Amino acid sequence: MPSNAERLNRLEELRAESLMGGGQARIDRQHEAGKLTARERIDLLLDPDSFVELDAFVTSRPEAGSDTPLYLGDGVVTGHGTVDGRLVFVFSQDFTVFGGSLSEAYAGKICKIMDLAMNVGAPIIGLNDSGGARIQEGVVSLGGYADIFLRNVLASGVVPQISVILGPCAGGAVYSPAITDFTVMVEGTSYMFVTGPNVVRAVTHEEVDAESLGGAGVHTSKSGVAHLAAADESDALDAVRRILAHLPQNNLEAPAIVPTADPADRMDPSLDTVVPEDPHKPYDMHDVIHAVVDDRDFLEIQPAWAPNIIIGFARLGGRSVGIIAQQPSVLAGALDIDASTKAARFVRTCDCFNVPIVSFVDVPGFLPGVGQEHGGIIKHGAKLLYAYCEATVPKLTVITRKAYGGAYDVMSSKHIRGDMNFAWPTAEIAVMGADGAVNIIFKDELAAAADPAAERARLVADYEREFANPYIAAARGYVDDVFRPSETRPRLIRALEMLATKRASNPRKKHGNIPL
Ligand code: HXC
Repeated sequence: MPSNAERLNRLEELRAESLMGGGQARIDRQHEAGKLTARERIDLLLDPDSFVELDAFVTSRPEAGSDTPLYLGDGVVTGHGTVDGRLVFVFSQDFTVFGGSLSEAYAGKICKIMDLAMNVGAPIIGLNDSGGARIQEGVVSLGGYADIFLRNVLASGVVPQISVILGPCAGGAVYSPAITDFTVMVEGTSYMFVTGPNVVRAVTHEEVDAESLGGAGVHTSKSGVAHLAAADESDALDAVRRILAHLPQNNLEAPAIVPTADPADRMDPSLDTVVPEDPHKPYDMHDVIHAVVDDRDFLEIQPAWAPNIIIGFARLGGRSVGIIAQQPSVLAGALDIDASTKAARFVRTCDCFNVPIVSFVDVPGFLPGVGQEHGGIIKHGAKLLYAYCEATVPKLTVITRKAYGGAYDVMSSKHIRGDMNFAWPTAEIAVMGADGAVNIIFKDELAAAADPAAERARLVADYEREFANPYIAAARGYVDDVFRPSETRPRLIRALEMLATKRASNPRKKHGNIPL
C-alpha cells in the first residue's frame, strides 16, 4: 500500500502532467505560431487566482488495443472562475493535445460545465483552437459536437454565451460559435469555415487561402459571422470582459448598474448643430452617440459589417443600454439586407438579456435595388420589424432627422411598442422625402409647368415646410415629445429611470416564427 505521502506526491505528479497538456515541445510550437496556450488564455480572461479546474484527469477512451496516447485533460481545459468578480464558466481548447481536436470525453467535459452554467445561471465562455473532430474517434466525436450544439441552443437566451476564436475552427465545429451570442476573432491567427481551402479548390476550383476564406477580416466585414476582430489574443479576451460587463448573469437578472461621474443632467450643445442644414448632407452618428452616453464610452459591435447601421453597448446614468442607430454617412443610413439582419439579431440579444434599447433614427427608407429585392430584403427587413415588435425591454427612440416610410414603422416606432419616442426639431417624419413625394403627387403639374425646375423647387419647398417636421407625428402622439438635441442625455436617462420597472409580455406560445 502506498503511504499517504506517496499518494499526495502521486496527485502532484498527475496534476503537473495534466498542466503540461501535449508537452513542452508542442507548447513551444504553439508560442512560435504566435498563440498562447489554453491555460495562459484562461489566466488572461479571468480574475487572478479565480480559476477552478474540473476534469483535469479525464482522458479519452480509446478502443481496446489502440496505441493512441492518453493525455490528462484530453485537450480541453474546463472549469469556472470570475470576471470582474462575477461567476463564469469557461472551456479552453488545448491545441497541444491532438491539435485541440474534439473527442467524446472532451465533449463530455464541455457539456458538464455548460450544464453547471445553466443550473446556476452564469455565462459560458468558449475559447476555440481546434482541428475539429478527433479523427481517431470517428463518429463518437460527431456525437460529442451535437451534444454541445444542443446545449448551445438550450442555453440561448438563458445565459450569455461568448465564443473566442483563437486558431482553427472548421467544419461543423463552427456551428457552436455560430449559435452563441457573440464571436470574437483574432486577426492573423484564427479562421472559421465550413469547408477549407483544399475542398473549395477541389469543388469550385477557386484558389483561396485560409485567411481570405475565413479570417477575422472576412467574418467581421463581409459575412457578419463574427462580432469583433481583435489585434491579438489579449485584446480578444479583453473584448469578452467588456461585453460581459453589459450583460446580466442570466435572463432572470438585469445588467449591473455602474455608477458614473458623468452627470445625468449633462447637456451637450454640440448636438444642437450636429444635423446639417442641408437634408442631403451626411453626419457621423457616432458623434451623437458619444455625446449622449456615460463617459463617451461606446462598445461598438460589428463596426465593419453593414456600417450603415451602428449597434453596440453603452451606459446611460449607469444603466446598460443597447444602441441601434442609423449611420447617415454610409448609404445615407438606408436599411439594406445586412443592416436589417445585424440590427435584428442585436435587438433580440438585448431583449433576451434585459438590456433596454435606445434607437437613434435617421433613415431614408429601405435600400432600393434589384440586388436587394432578389436577395430578399422583404424577408430580411421583416426580421428587424419582428425583433422590435417582439422586444419587451424598455425601448427609447430618438428621431434625429429622417424617418420615412416603412422604415419609420420598423425603427421602434410608438405603434410597435416603443415606450418613449422622441424627436429632435430637425426630424422629418413622413411617407417619403420631399423630392420623391413631389415627383409622384405633382407629376401632371410638373409636366404642364412653363418652368418645370422652378415649379419643382417651389413644390418641394412647400412640401418640406408642411410635412418634413416632427409636429404632425407629435400632434397624433406618435412621438411623446420634441426637444432640443442638447437635452438628449438627460431626457433619455429620465425615461430609462421611469421605465426601470417596466413589465410587458407577449402572448403565450411555443415560439414565434421569425422570418429566416
Ligand atoms: C486528431 C489532429 C487533428 C484531428 C490535428 N491533429 N487535427 N489529431 N484529429 N482532427 C493533430 C496533428 O496530428 C498534430 O499532432 C497536431 O494535431 C497539430 O496538427 P498540425 O497539422 O501539425 O498543425 P497545423 O500545421 O497548425 O495545422 C492545423 C490544422 C491541421 C489546420 C488544424 O492539423 C488539420 O487540417 N487538421 C485536420 C482538420 C480536419 O480535417 N478535421 C476534421 C474535420 S471534420 P502532433 O502529434 O504532430 O502534435 C470535423 C467535423 C466536425 O471537424 C463535425 C461537427 C458536427
